[in-house]
Amino acid sequence: MNTIGNDIRITLWGGSHGSHIGCVLEGVKGGLELDNDKITEEMSLRRPSPGIGTARMEKDEVLFLSGVTEGVTNGDPISIMIANNDTRSKDYEQFRHRPRPGHADFTAVIRNPNHDIRGGGMFSGRLTAPLVAAGTVCRLGLEAEGIDIGAFTRGIGEVIDPQERSIEECWDSRAFSSRACTKDLDDEMIETIMNASSEGDSLGGVVECHLENLPIGVGEPWFDSLDGELAKSMFSIPAMRAFEIGDGLLSSRSKGSEMNDPFTLAGNEVFTTTNHHGGVLGGRSSGMPLVFRCFLKPTPSISKTQCTVDLESLQDVQLQIEGRHDPCIVPRAVAVVEAMACHCIYDMMSRGGFLEN
Ligand SMILES: Cc1cc2nc3c(=O)[nH]c(=O)nc-3n(C[C@H](O)[C@H](O)[C@H](O)COP(=O)(O)O)c2cc1C
Repeated sequence: MNTIGNDIRITLWGGSHGSHIGCVLEGVKGGLELDNDKITEEMSLRRPSPGIGTARMEKDEVLFLSGVTEGVTNGDPISIMIANNDTRSKDYEQFRHRPRPGHADFTAVIRNPNHDIRGGGMFSGRLTAPLVAAGTVCRLGLEAEGIDIGAFTRGIGEVIDPQERSIEECWDSRAFSSRACTKDLDDEMIETIMNASSEGDSLGGVVECHLENLPIGVGEPWFDSLDGELAKSMFSIPAMRAFEIGDGLLSSRSKGSEMNDPFTLAGNEVFTTTNHHGGVLGGRSSGMPLVFRCFLKPTPSISKTQCTVDLESLQDVQLQIEGRHDPCIVPRAVAVVEAMACHCIYDMMSRGGFLEN
């Protein structure tokens, strides 16, 4: 239910306005050095930036309650806990009876009348904080195997980055609050978010993620294919609406002669001269860069007046949403996409017997 992964599993717990949130990360072998600076850096990339993120400010200090001895994993389940301090629960009580359009409130309370509505409860984007912490542990494991990962904001609303990007450019995006690859795009994306926000509205967008130096063959046949497992991981992130690998949707409009990536040799190594397939063939890594994109919808909570139904009086009503929300979650979601990708690939490498270090 709240667990993802096979060999390496994350079990998520907590709610947006409970005292703490966290997860248990199982299956990570002992001897992995946890770099505190790296964990702090990844957590800060998920935190909101002034003007383009929610005004809710959490420290997001990560506590490792078990599984780590003197900064090194010891092979036991790793218990991760993060405090919630900056909560304003009164803003949310009305959503139990008057669900926010586009949010999880409606399905959550119909299925479970005891649902903790405060801050969206378990369905809140807040729960992605422990996912980033757990994903960073997996990332350190992947880096020990020589695998590189990076992601950036490909688009926000109508502002789309048209260039092909390298993994180094993905890393450059860490300097910009929108997570765009360049300063010009960062300025444009921030402006478009600010404009939507000043109109009481919100925007969605696209995150692109790259992984390099994967061995050939990661991914299990049929139902546990690499692309299938990655898609599941990405769809676990709230507000995710579509996922594509390589040329993705465009491939349905290509000819075989355009889409097929020719094989060639460099010394004894086989690789492809182009990468329309995005690094996955037959549900397994091909050794080429794994490139995928995630499409996120606009934040549901907007300050424009909206129509909803009062579930007690069974009447159509107008809803005015108060409280603090991200006008666009895409810049923060970049760190979450990276974290979930790291967990998925680390798990799939373990399953396939690829982990050496
Ligand atoms: C990092 C992050 C932050 C989010 N912040 C908000 C927010 O401030 N307000 C909001 O209404 N939704 C926010 N969301 C999105 C909702 O959690 C999500 O849209 C909602 O639970 C409905 O789920 P669905 O969009 O997957 O159907 C956030 C999502 C993420 C990943």
